[in-house]
Amino acid sequence: MRILGISASHRKWGNTDILVHHALRGAAHEGAETQFVRLTDFTINQCRGCLSCLFKDKDCVIDDQLHELLGALREADGVVLGSPIHIMCATGTIQNLVSRLFRQGYTGELAGKPGIAIVVGGKPGWEGLAIYQVMLFFLSLRMSLIDRITGYGQGPGEVFDDTEACERASAGGKAMARGHITFRGETGICPFCHGNLVLNRHNGQPWCMLCDIHGQWVKKGETMQFEPLADSQSRWEAKEIREHFENLILPSGKSFRAKKEAIRDKLEIFRT
Ligand SMILES: Cc1cc2nc3c(=O)[nH]c(=O)nc-3n(C[C@H](O)[C@H](O)[C@H](O)COP(=O)(O)O)c2cc1C
Repeated sequence: MRILGISASHRKWGNTDILVHHALRGAAHEGAETQFVRLTDFTINQCRGCLSCLFKDKDCVIDDQLHELLGALREADGVVLGSPIHIMCATGTIQNLVSRLFRQGYTGELAGKPGIAIVVGGKPGWEGLAIYQVMLFFLSLRMSLIDRITGYGQGPGEVFDDTEACERASAGGKAMARGHITFRGETGICPFCHGNLVLNRHNGQPWCMLCDIHGQWVKKGETMQFEPLADSQSRWEAKEIREHFENLILPSGKSFRAKKEAIRDKLEIFRT
């Protein structure tokens, strides 16, 4: 069992590194081989949107160190990915990584591997979207999220005071090394992604924007609970993802080529 820990913080031995290391230490305790890498030590450029990875059926054509990291992901049996919270989001390096692995979401080559999502912020209430952005790494690759952990600490190292997050990261790493592959965190509002990003759409209908699940609010005891419509399927299920790529994205090459000349003509007004 080989567990790869990735930190997206620039701060060496900062709070994200520390929580990721707690998970790796837990995994090592159970006999796993562990590897720690810092995303900022890799040059991973922004996705160019060329879609060669799909249309030409090969890994991303940009020649940078994504390929090194992809090799490590392929070799890993489980992945811990952590990010600091910056302006209520994960770091840009996380988004670069997620977009550059677009093809792997389609091939499903990393699917099923267990993952732990970690974010660290300075102050409760300022978490924003960060954990969801890290979760999207796992969801889009159809990996199996076993926990999502938010820790707190402002200065580098202060997350040691958040003993709950440290212990949870360590326990998550242990569980991963023991072969646990189902979600072990607290139940979120959405039963599919275990997140709380359920929004009310224009018609007032609740909808998990991560999973594209519609439902209704149902009163259970003192609380209102999100009840998905019968036969709901998360957009991250194998069948749904395959349909998304095969019915929408891959055919878009042909439909774009048919309109290319007309689009070029329309662009003329901006060029003159
Ligand atoms: C540019 C910047 C923006 C930040 N924005 C937030 C924020 O929106 N919410 C929050 O809780 N913490 C915020 N923080 C605090 C960091 O998340 C916190 O210091 C964290 O421990 C950093 O993790 P690290 O030590 O792994 O880099 C911000 C820090 C920086 C540098």
